[in-house]
Amino acid sequence: MSETSRNDAAGRTANRVPDPFGRVVDYLRISITDRCNERCLYCLPAGYHGWAQRPDHLTAEEVVRVVRVAAGMGFRKFRLTGGEPLVRHDLPDIVCALKKIPGVECLALSTNGTRLAALARPLREAGLRTVNVSLDALDAALYRRITGGDVAAVLAGIRAAVAAGFERVKLNTVLLRGLNEGELWPLVLFAAEHGLPIRLIELMPVSRTKALCAQNFFGVEEARRLLAQRDELIPLPAAYLGWGPARYCQLRHTGALVGFIGPLTTPHFCETCNKMRLTADGKVRPCLGDHGEIDLRAALRRSATDEAVRELLLTAVQRKPREHSFLGAYQPCRPMTALGG
Ligand code: 5AD
Ligand code: SF4
Repeated sequence: MSETSRNDAAGRTANRVPDPFGRVVDYLRISITDRCNERCLYCLPAGYHGWAQRPDHLTAEEVVRVVRVAAGMGFRKFRLTGGEPLVRHDLPDIVCALKKIPGVECLALSTNGTRLAALARPLREAGLRTVNVSLDALDAALYRRITGGDVAAVLAGIRAAVAAGFERVKLNTVLLRGLNEGELWPLVLFAAEHGLPIRLIELMPVSRTKALCAQNFFGVEEARRLLAQRDELIPLPAAYLGWGPARYCQLRHTGALVGFIGPLTTPHFCETCNKMRLTADGKVRPCLGDHGEIDLRAALRRSATDEAVRELLLTAVQRKPREHSFLGAYQPCRPMTALGG
């Protein structure tokens, strides 16, 4: 189904501007910092010991302004990401301010979960509705090897998020050959036990690390086959859990809800793309797998009018490529951590 008919079916096209390929773009993922307290193998280069430059991130006021303009032109869903968004101390204030903007229907967060135990409740109270937590392994040593962090803190964070009453808590697992194949089944059981959907994501060449190589790649079809050795996979409708890129299955016996996100191997993956990204330093990025960017921060700091900011966002929608270039000669020019996952 094309994005246009998909959105028509959902009755959500009013006042939205489609991109050149008929996709209605109404979802903005916002990286609020490129800093992170973990060191995932696929994200930060080995031996990375901090950032050389002081960050020049958008301020909370600038983020709020961009969201206000975007909501005014039909954007409905916003996700705060990083880096690790919870390292930014004004995150609860940002959430509070964004919640008040008319048109912001869905406000979500993606986090590595390490600081969620303390922050889940204040964030829920500030109005955040859903949270996605990265979890690449349950085994503590393996988790540390992949991320440099402490899985116990993440598990405490996940429990705190469930206890805080988020409408949805989802788990994200990046598929890493030779590292976490053996963790998939325990992760799926963990997700089922806690009633949380889990998404298995193909490794994308979005950063410059040694781990981003063909040998470490592990496709969603293979993950599906591994799970099918343990349980029966029942496919769910394409629109299950929203219009995102994941294709969900329910496992007959365990009841687990497993989403497969295969940007590199799923045919027509980009046909239903409804999102753009805002980088921590204020560039609008129409596609994760394409270098095109538009500098919003410069405009905001030149005292651009709302109309001028809106024009820049519209230009970005018009520059959305048909598909990502991950299968071509795409060379990432900045780490994933600045792009907003
Ligand atoms: N490939 C796939 N997913 C990635 N993420 C970070 N880097 C990559 C990559 N190279 C994931 C994180 C998190 C989400 C925001 O993006 O693990 O789940
Ligand atoms: Fe941090 Fe996320 Fe990058 Fe891991 S993938 S280093 S948690 S920003």
